[in-house]
Amino acid sequence: MSIKPLTTLDVGYIRGCFPTFEETLAAKTAFFENAGGSYVAGPVLDKLIHFYRYNKVQPYGASDILKAAGEQMDAGRDTIAALLGVDTQTITLGASTTQNFNTLAIACSAIVGPGSEVIVTEQDHEANIGAWQRLCERSGATLRIWPVDAVSGELDITTFEQMLNANTAIACVTHSSNIVGTINPVEKVISLCRSNGTRIAIDGVSYAPHRWPDIPVLKPDVYCFSTYKTYATHLGVMYCSEEFADLLDPQCHYFNCQHRQKRFDSSGPDHASIAALAGLGEYFEQSHRHHFGDSEQSAYKKTREISQLMHAHETMLCDKLLSGIADLPLRIIGRPTMQGREANIALVSGKYSSSELSAQLARVDIAAASGDFYARRLIEKTAIENPDDGVLRISFAHYNTIDEVNRVIDILRRLHGTTR
Ligand SMILES: Cc1ncc(COP(=O)(O)O)c(C=O)c1O
Repeated sequence: MSIKPLTTLDVGYIRGCFPTFEETLAAKTAFFENAGGSYVAGPVLDKLIHFYRYNKVQPYGASDILKAAGEQMDAGRDTIAALLGVDTQTITLGASTTQNFNTLAIACSAIVGPGSEVIVTEQDHEANIGAWQRLCERSGATLRIWPVDAVSGELDITTFEQMLNANTAIACVTHSSNIVGTINPVEKVISLCRSNGTRIAIDGVSYAPHRWPDIPVLKPDVYCFSTYKTYATHLGVMYCSEEFADLLDPQCHYFNCQHRQKRFDSSGPDHASIAALAGLGEYFEQSHRHHFGDSEQSAYKKTREISQLMHAHETMLCDKLLSGIADLPLRIIGRPTMQGREANIALVSGKYSSSELSAQLARVDIAAASGDFYARRLIEKTAIENPDDGVLRISFAHYNTIDEVNRVIDILRRLHGTTR
């Protein structure tokens, strides 16, 4: 069948793919806490329930029921690899990204020692700082922090360039911060690291829900994100290139080291959650078919294509929000426009604490959380008056609607004494 491709996201169709919206609470809530964890796509839930209902057994083995469980888990792993356009062997599935970074940092004892330097950023979630700090403390290496600008919260690439030196073993940098939202120039960061012989680990947790990461083009050593924020189950995905993985200390049982995808699996996460990742592939596939018609392209290409429509939709919504609140006494952290940023807006009100603001929004069924979102160093550096109260964060997913954005604008305007 050949259909005319849709040029904008069919949000009605998309919402129909998320069973959550059938439920009264979710149906009435304008949900803007997506950066904390997104709703789950229907095909993912189907696979999860199928596994728990029919195949909740120790997977792999001679009997058919054990085989079936193993096959579903393999399908989950293979799907994530196919969606990312990488080899399954390069993917570690962990309980979370925090756990994957901890495991990775311990594994990096093989390349970080006395005299080495590790660069982290002041913009990152603590998951991509603390693990490296502990590694440096243990190994006698030096932790160097790429500072953010105190006003904008942004990172300056020339500072990074100056920090790199012959001792820099690895740099650990976020693709985009869960507070500032600016998309960092990771292509440039990676190319500077390459020329310097420095390894590079990217935290894509905040980026991936908005734009599917392009690992084959970026070619980092490591790229991490969390599938519970990309409409799937609660897991951390860690890509680690074969060549880099071979230099590191495995963190698995000694007899599992020859299974390449087990090398950094230090926890053995929930089997059903792994199996359910195959549903993420189905979700992207069916959304792609709905918008573009049948296609012989690879899963990786289709996912990137549909993700661009999702991203364009979020950008349009977020533009609307930013222009609708531009004249209010609100400090937007990061850029005041969507130029070079993702649809994830953190703000501080001149009139209300962030927790009060969050509670006021909740009264009209808008879910947007407040706090430091574990980017504590960033919150402290950007002079947010009360770091415990932090910011109000309005974070989008592609299933959000114009109507929901209008509700946010209206309540923020009413609370700040102006209507449209
Ligand atoms: C930017 C960023 N990095 C890392 C993490 C940690 O991810 P996980 O919850 O999977 O440990 C988060 C979690 O919110 C995050 O927003």
